[in-house]
Amino acid sequence: MDIRQLPYTLEIKSPVATSSQPEGDRATEAPPWYNPRGWSLRKKLIASTTTIVIILAAILIPVEIIQNRYPNYIPLNYTLADTYSGPTFFDQFTYFTDDDPTKGFVVYVDKSTARGLNLTYASESSAVLRVDASTPNARSGRNSVRVESRNTYDSGLFIFDIIHTPFGCATWPALWLTDGYNWPMNGEIDVLETTNVGSHGNEVSIHTTKGCSMDVKRKQTGQPIFKNCDSATGGNSGCGVIGDENSYGEAMNNRGGGVYALELRDAGIRAWFFPSGTVPADITAENPDPSRWGVALADFPSTKCDIASHFKNLSIIVNIDLCGELAGQKQYYDTLYHCPATCSGFVASNPDSFVDAYWEFKSFKVYRAY
Ligand SMILES: *[C@@H]1O[C@H](CO)[C@@H](O)[C@H](O)[C@H]1NC(C)=O
Ligand SMILES: *[C@@H]1O[C@H](CO)[C@@H](O)[C@H](O)[C@H]1NC(C)=O
Ligand SMILES: *[C@@H]1O[C@H](CO)[C@@H](O)[C@H](O)[C@H]1NC(C)=O
Repeated sequence: MDIRQLPYTLEIKSPVATSSQPEGDRATEAPPWYNPRGWSLRKKLIASTTTIVIILAAILIPVEIIQNRYPNYIPLNYTLADTYSGPTFFDQFTYFTDDDPTKGFVVYVDKSTARGLNLTYASESSAVLRVDASTPNARSGRNSVRVESRNTYDSGLFIFDIIHTPFGCATWPALWLTDGYNWPMNGEIDVLETTNVGSHGNEVSIHTTKGCSMDVKRKQTGQPIFKNCDSATGGNSGCGVIGDENSYGEAMNNRGGGVYALELRDAGIRAWFFPSGTVPADITAENPDPSRWGVALADFPSTKCDIASHFKNLSIIVNIDLCGELAGQKQYYDTLYHCPATCSGFVASNPDSFVDAYWEFKSFKVYRAY
């Protein structure tokens, strides 16, 4: 509809209606005040202008309200619920040993194999999860690890204290949350995910079933790349947000790592990154208050995405995939990162290239709101 046509419509119609009136009537009986037949031209103009203004307001004000809608992230009172740290770090996880669902050139080993090969190792100070960098010829896929927390979460504030992020050609590391048995119904949150050398910034992303859009007002410092979070669209690209180049990989490691914080609540999902040395005191003091941390790196508000119904029963997952549906793609492996030969050929015969392919964590802490 073209609203600008309305004044003409109104002004043309009224005289036509008037002229169909018998002459005598007007003299004998003045129409009631609300009948436009009795109005002066000036009154008609005022009335039609007013009508236009009301129609425009009725259309534009709701559009404006929807575009500016933003959830109220009122401060919640968080209490420490789970701590993953120290020598028992990996006891709180199960080891995923199925074939890689994302078709990587990888063998996810069980707990005793991982311990034997020292692919998972936990001490008082840190927990390490790495790709096998010793087997010279890994023809059917290189050994790696994927662990999934026994505890599951519908909401919470997650503090991931990270010392080292894995990087290198062919790697596809991720620290994420999902319910692998009910994907994508129960959602997926990628807190850290990159491929290969990982020097283009970390991607924070969510993946859902249909009905989750981020084409809304957001408050974040990262760069959004896709806005439809439905995993059935865009080749399951998710609706990611990219951090700066110090948010992952060698650049992040060289600065001493840092803390990634993820808040999952009905109002929305937000993630922050604090490089080592800039971690807020309330985090260190185990009394975290996101309302004091400033603008998030990534913000997924509940405006056009019912967060509570899309995200449930999530485990914390840490893994390092190799090649597969993401890292092995030509656009990443060749074009973006200029990695050698073919991805799986490289993985099979270059163990030395995986010495930096390890996660090292100080701790994970999960807070619940009461
Ligand atoms: C958090 O605790 C403070 C102090 O006890 C209280 O005033 C506030 O209402 C609480 N907030 C919520 C969201 O429960
Ligand atoms: C296992 O890995 C850890 C962490 O990198 C290292 O400190 C330790 O010496 C390794 N243990 C063996 C037996 O190689
Ligand atoms: C929650 O996830 C676990 C796996 O971590 C699964 O075994 C369980 O069936 C799920 N529960 C529900 C209610 O979906």
